[in-house]
Amino acid sequence: MTILVTGGLGYIGSHTVVELLKNNFEVVIVDDLSNSEKFILENIEEVSGKKPIFYPFDLRRKELIHQLFDAHHIEGCINFAAYKAVGESQEKPLDYYENNLFILINILQEFKNRNISNFIFSSSCTVYGQADEMPIHETTPLKMPESVYGKTKQMGEEIILDFAKAYHKKISLLRYFNPIGAHPSGKLGELPLGIPNNLVPFVTQTAAGIRKELSIFGNDYPTLDGTAVRDYIYVVDLAKAHVAALQKLIASTEDTVLDIYNLGTGNGSSVLEVVQAFEKANQVAVPYKICDRRVGDITIAYANATKAEKELGWKADTTLEIALKTTWQWQKYLESRN
Ligand code: NAD
Ligand code: WQD
Repeated sequence: MTILVTGGLGYIGSHTVVELLKNNFEVVIVDDLSNSEKFILENIEEVSGKKPIFYPFDLRRKELIHQLFDAHHIEGCINFAAYKAVGESQEKPLDYYENNLFILINILQEFKNRNISNFIFSSSCTVYGQADEMPIHETTPLKMPESVYGKTKQMGEEIILDFAKAYHKKISLLRYFNPIGAHPSGKLGELPLGIPNNLVPFVTQTAAGIRKELSIFGNDYPTLDGTAVRDYIYVVDLAKAHVAALQKLIASTEDTVLDIYNLGTGNGSSVLEVVQAFEKANQVAVPYKICDRRVGDITIAYANATKAEKELGWKADTTLEIALKTTWQWQKYLESRN
């Protein structure tokens, strides 16, 4: 089967492409390289021993998407392509709404017009905001996200649910918690553009001496050590969940499927625990200072991921330390390229 992977040269997309190829799917990638680089494609080929088809274009361009669907017998799509920087989304709301929602609608139009099913959407735990219950279940009420980025995810989910009901499609909304780590080959990972916003890339660059010290945003949260708690999921585990979700959609004989899964480990780790695990895993120091809380941050978020385990036969079982080891390996690889 041929699967379209939008944003397939991005962080999570590239790892998922490798897993799809391993499972004998044909893969067509579209990525405009706005947040990736061409060498990722070469590394996907090296790691998987297979060659996905690649088109470097902007998915806001409807006519190019139309031509792509004319040229390939696409039978499913995993839609990763989006802008994802929370802070930037506040400064450039129209760019975020345009990019994240137009990409989605353009592809759904092709699915509708050509009678294609099997659509997977990259959603986020951000749709839950600061949830009133912990762990977070798929049925935990959603809250209006603080950021424009978060709103594009919530709006995206709404659009897809309406689409699936009206046109009888099979869809899966995957709500990722905090993806971290890199491919064990050391050849694929996250490419942070500029100063990283996310914790693990910042920790990594601090350990590497690129940043002087990590600012820990708040140690007065009502948690065990006062720092905020998240559910850090290893990117390869996350990639495998996409294959499992896709296989479930394909196998279903129903004409309409509306799957929603939390993808996390089920465990919360504090910022300090992440720093300590990184230091232990890699035997390297991470200098840090305690700062004020970051505006818009929540205190705690971790998943109940038992639905995915039950229905997909999938579980995130890579430890924080192993995930953080691969991040360091990826950092070394990036340094060796310069
Ligand atoms: P990423 O930025 O590494 O990957 C996204 C890819 O999409 C990039 O390679 C970029 O070049 C491409 N892209 C963006 N706009 C495009 C356009 N108009 N046309 C063609 N290509 C375009 O991000 P990621 O971390 O791999 O995230 C993948 C998806 O998962 C995103 O939808 C993101 O919102 C979602 N998500 C990410 C996280 C996270 O923490 N990384 C958490 C939850 C959800
Ligand atoms: C984790 C913890 C920070 C950086 C973001 C998006 C969310 C989702 C996942 C896409 C927090 C603390 C961080 C630093 C720190 N992405 N921190 N110093 O905020 O949980 O979620 O990524 O959908 O939408 O908002 O992740 O990695 O930014 O932060 O102390 O330099 O680390 O305050 O407690 P977050 P994060």
